[in-house]
Amino acid sequence: MKFFVDTANLEEIQAAYNLGVLDGVTTNPSLMAKEGIAGEENVMAHYKAICDIVDDKVSAEIISTTYDEMIEEGEKLAAIDPKIVLKLPVIKDGIKAIRYFTDKGIRTNCTLIFSAGQALLAAKAGATYVSPFLGRLDDISMSGVGLIEEIKTIFDNYDLGTEILCASVRHSTHLLDCAKLGADVATSPLSVFLQLLKHPLTDSGLEKFLADHAKVNEQVVQEA
Ligand code: E4P
Repeated sequence: MKFFVDTANLEEIQAAYNLGVLDGVTTNPSLMAKEGIAGEENVMAHYKAICDIVDDKVSAEIISTTYDEMIEEGEKLAAIDPKIVLKLPVIKDGIKAIRYFTDKGIRTNCTLIFSAGQALLAAKAGATYVSPFLGRLDDISMSGVGLIEEIKTIFDNYDLGTEILCASVRHSTHLLDCAKLGADVATSPLSVFLQLLKHPLTDSGLEKFLADHAKVNEQVVQEA
């Protein structure tokens, strides 16, 4: 499973990269706004700064909602760096734009997926990734993990090459459930990936090992 970090914060991206397990980055307009990034020039510069940190796969979201504008904006974003993946919403013009960029060999991530039908249509248009939002479905008492299972079954039935990028992943149980289903990618804040490290037996075991090590070394120092 690939791990993408879901943030526009450069320090968090650098920290995730330094961990040595990072495969990509996803951003969205809300995450960019959280960092105070506004205006075309600053947005472009920020995406470039992200690309300079990571090895590949930086999702940059297109704000336009009509086909012609999406194409124009997407071409500018794609020109920033070959690591850019264009992120487009699953609306009619978004699907048409995904087909356009796919035919040009530019990778796309179809976002705001909340149903298997949306995922199927995006895959038919040639999307590199579909992003079903687990947490937001759970928030309205629907099953986010259930949606991943449905999409996985459909994509496997037809051997579709589109990767399932589990988004709105809120905790490590989400992440593990997606991994058990064989989803290709999970994107989340770094804190969620770090939750995978947590186990009380690891903490107490390490504490005991270090205490035993310190005790015997103290004796050696005293005897010398
Ligand atoms: C995915 O690409 C989105 O940026 C993100 O995962 C949305 O997560 P949220 O529902 O926690 O805002």
